[in-house]
Amino acid sequence: MLEAVERRIGHYIDELEDRDAAALYARLPAGKRLRARLILTIAGSGPAAIKTAAVVEMIHAASLLHDDVIDDAFVRRGRPSLNALYGNKTSIMFGDVLYSKAFHELVDIDRRVARVVSAAVVELSLGERRDLLLSQSFNTDREVYLHMIYQKTASLIEAASEAAAILAGKNPDAYRTYGRNLGIAFQMIDDLLDITQSAEQLGKPAMHDFQEGKTTLPYIYLHEALGEADRERLLAMHGRPVTEENAAWIRGKMAETGALERARGEAEALVNEAIGLMKREREPALEAMARKMIERDY
Ligand code: FPP
Ligand code: MG
Repeated sequence: MLEAVERRIGHYIDELEDRDAAALYARLPAGKRLRARLILTIAGSGPAAIKTAAVVEMIHAASLLHDDVIDDAFVRRGRPSLNALYGNKTSIMFGDVLYSKAFHELVDIDRRVARVVSAAVVELSLGERRDLLLSQSFNTDREVYLHMIYQKTASLIEAASEAAAILAGKNPDAYRTYGRNLGIAFQMIDDLLDITQSAEQLGKPAMHDFQEGKTTLPYIYLHEALGEADRERLLAMHGRPVTEENAAWIRGKMAETGALERARGEAEALVNEAIGLMKREREPALEAMARKMIERDY
């Protein structure tokens, strides 16, 4: 099924009639294609679903090109990012090419689908901006973090599910909530893995988030649980390169205080709710997709 999406994206790239754009696209690793999988699992692989999946994946790819520039990230999916290879200007502009071509195609799909997906991109952009603003100080507010990850990550996954439900004539509310829960849990788990996994496992530097100033849920819970002196020590590390010693200290304290477990439990609760929804909709494949998400290595 997914091959049809790859072919459709390839076709859109060909339509650009631009050898440089085609060469840049060829350097992009495809990734997990979570959003496309979701759309095809919900809506089947008819032409409108394939188109929607291609458009959503192109928007996602564009957002990551911009994100790697914003985050000064030089590795993406175990390979040098496009900004590492060709510089920020190329990444930004190629992101714009992918994004605008995706929008050009989106307007020809069902109008409701176009509205849902375009609204999600507004959220996505606001979320990325919020993420950057929050990284300037140690955010201790869980609600603020949750809203930011909803905007930055879950909004497009939520939109993908809802759009697919619209195309399939299914109940959009249930699928929207499923997508939102999955999206929030996905980002929570990504944030956990940044702490628990090695650079080799991650395909990008470990503990990069904290170094970038991002206080994800385990850091918020850790801050809450620490005594005065340890809290001062944690705050002093914020937004600075994390030494091996500090990384070990943070990991140790996360385990000791249960901050990691608490955050993981929250991701699991969202996934379980999503599974319950899909049980009611009789969608075993979507239940399995949700289950797989919490089974990612910690
Ligand atoms: C990755 O977050 C970033 C996103 C999911 C959203 C990025 C959104 C934008 C740049 C705005 C929208 C722009 C366009 C062109 C549509 P992360 O840095 O936490 O994850 P990572 O570890 O995978 O980099
Ligand atoms: Mg990033």
